[in-house]
Amino acid sequence: MEHLIDIKNISKEDILNIVNLAKEFKSGRKNSDVEKKTLALMFYENSTRTRCSFEIAGQKLGMNIINFDLSHSSLSKGESLKDTIENLYFLGVDAVVIRHSLSGIINNVMRLVKYPIKFVNGGDGTHAHPSQALLDFYTMLEKIGTVENKKIVIIGDVSHSRVAKSNINLLSKFNADIHLCAPSYLEFESFDAFNVKYHKDVKEAISGANVVMVLRVQNERHEKEGYPDSLEYKRLYEIDTDLLKRYASNDVILMHPGPANRNIEVSSELLDNRVGKTILEQAQNGVFVRMAILNTLLKQGKEV
Ligand code: CP
Repeated sequence: MEHLIDIKNISKEDILNIVNLAKEFKSGRKNSDVEKKTLALMFYENSTRTRCSFEIAGQKLGMNIINFDLSHSSLSKGESLKDTIENLYFLGVDAVVIRHSLSGIINNVMRLVKYPIKFVNGGDGTHAHPSQALLDFYTMLEKIGTVENKKIVIIGDVSHSRVAKSNINLLSKFNADIHLCAPSYLEFESFDAFNVKYHKDVKEAISGANVVMVLRVQNERHEKEGYPDSLEYKRLYEIDTDLLKRYASNDVILMHPGPANRNIEVSSELLDNRVGKTILEQAQNGVFVRMAILNTLLKQGKEV
């Protein structure tokens, strides 16, 4: 694994190695192999979990962290991303985590950069969010042991969700029984290749589910009119305690990548009283999974 851009290009073996290494970091049994390496965080889009957990992961590994300030950098004077990253490499940066609103931009700039800096996709447009899928997978294994033949239901704005796409890519490698539930205008046709099942009705979707993953409606990515307004979306798709109790299994795991829109896709009451801690544990696992990602990518170039 040279870079982490898209789960599609990561083997099952590499995914399991990351998960096992994350477990070692979480238990405290594993020490860093990448002390004194330097990580730059370049976030063109806002973030709480991804940005902070990469920063904390790097700190725990003994790395130097640069929180690259885009607005005060020479990018604002017209310097290209390629030139910026090549300069960062010569200043001593070993890896860069990029979040951007343009799908595919990280792949494109990676092809242009001539020097061996490591790239990590921190979420690009509606394309991919590979570290999120890895931490979601880690959390599922922690909670239910395996995803093979488990009913995993992803509910919400699937077509605009890089989280959903990376999760579907990953879960299909491990033979999960993947179900999507979305209003028709939020569906994404190209999931057909992954043998996923579609539901319009949320009760049917969550029936017997082992994992229910709820997504945020990505209003900022909606170009066309005709998307449901919040009240309509809430009426049709909001997951609440009563719905889970009546239709899902008792031990269903509720997940949400965050940030959650309380009382739109998930009820505030459910977050505060029943499942909020699981979702916070999901975010917490992001630190250990991102430690594993950074250690794996940067250890390869370690001098011995
Ligand atoms: N799940 C996720 O990517 O959250 P942030 O946008 O806060 O990083």
